[in-house]
Amino acid sequence: MPRSKASGASAHTASHARVVAVANQKGGVGKTTSAVNVAAALAESGYRTLVIDLDPQGNATLALGIDRNTTVNTVYDCLIDGVSLVEAAVESNNEGLLCVAASVDLAGAEVELVGLPQREHRLAAAITELGGTADAGILAGLEFILIDCPPSLGLLTVNALVAARELLVPIQAEFYALDGLGQLVRTVDLVRTALNPDIEISLVALTMTDPQVDQQRYVADELRAYFGPLVADTTIPRDAALSEAPSGMQTALTYAPKSDGAIAYRALAHELVDANPAISR
Ligand SMILES: Nc1ncnc2c1ncn2[C@@H]1O[C@H](COP(=O)(O)OP(=O)(O)OP(=O)(O)O)[C@@H](O)[C@H]1O
Ligand SMILES: [Mg+2]
Repeated sequence: MPRSKASGASAHTASHARVVAVANQKGGVGKTTSAVNVAAALAESGYRTLVIDLDPQGNATLALGIDRNTTVNTVYDCLIDGVSLVEAAVESNNEGLLCVAASVDLAGAEVELVGLPQREHRLAAAITELGGTADAGILAGLEFILIDCPPSLGLLTVNALVAARELLVPIQAEFYALDGLGQLVRTVDLVRTALNPDIEISLVALTMTDPQVDQQRYVADELRAYFGPLVADTTIPRDAALSEAPSGMQTALTYAPKSDGAIAYRALAHELVDANPAISR
């Protein structure tokens, strides 16, 4: 990544941030691991980055070292009560990496949103509002917003797809990896037609790869046949550092900076930066 911390980010307002949803309705494919470690790699390279934890499980919140019992405002308050993201954002343990936490009550938001006006646009409105905020507080100079989505295509994920311009799709390297991808692509197409003409897939990343497993080559080939150049050159290996880091309330970038997992996520973050330079500023 060609930037240093010294280059500073304060010239940019939060409204210039690239908004990337990390989504796949399939459970356990590496969405949260990818969201927090790519975000940590971006922050490490000097990009001020916000993770919005849109999953009631709150795994991203925990991995970023944030205690959800002491967080005053969470993404629930932003979606349901119109609290601003600035009021909800908190610093993580990683310099330059911020988080809007998920709380347990987010599980109810999926139902509560149904009865609210602009139900698909509430996260987008909260992000747009940042641009008009004179004092963006700790979100000033934000360059990336990564949204960790739950494993469903419900209203929470739809809010992310409407708020984002880009999509990062982690796909687990396993035989059934491609099952359900058609559904995800159809949902993205629907959102593009009806709600957010700007949404595009930026990167598809193969996760939990294991060079010893032959069938993974088949999955990678199938993925390239389906998504072409959108498939990241970087694959994320299965690495214990990635699964252990959250129990220490850390990302792998700080927990095991030299691990294969941390190195791979740095490379994937590079690819994300380069994926769509035209809209990066
Ligand atoms: N590359 C990896 N190497 C080893 N373990 C991994 C790797 N990626 C993810 N894991 C582990 O696999 C599990 C699922 O990963 P993760 O929570 O990131 O998936 P997810 O798609 O966010 O899941 P959910 O759909 O429940 O939100 C976690 O226990 C995580 O620590
Ligand atoms: Mg998750």
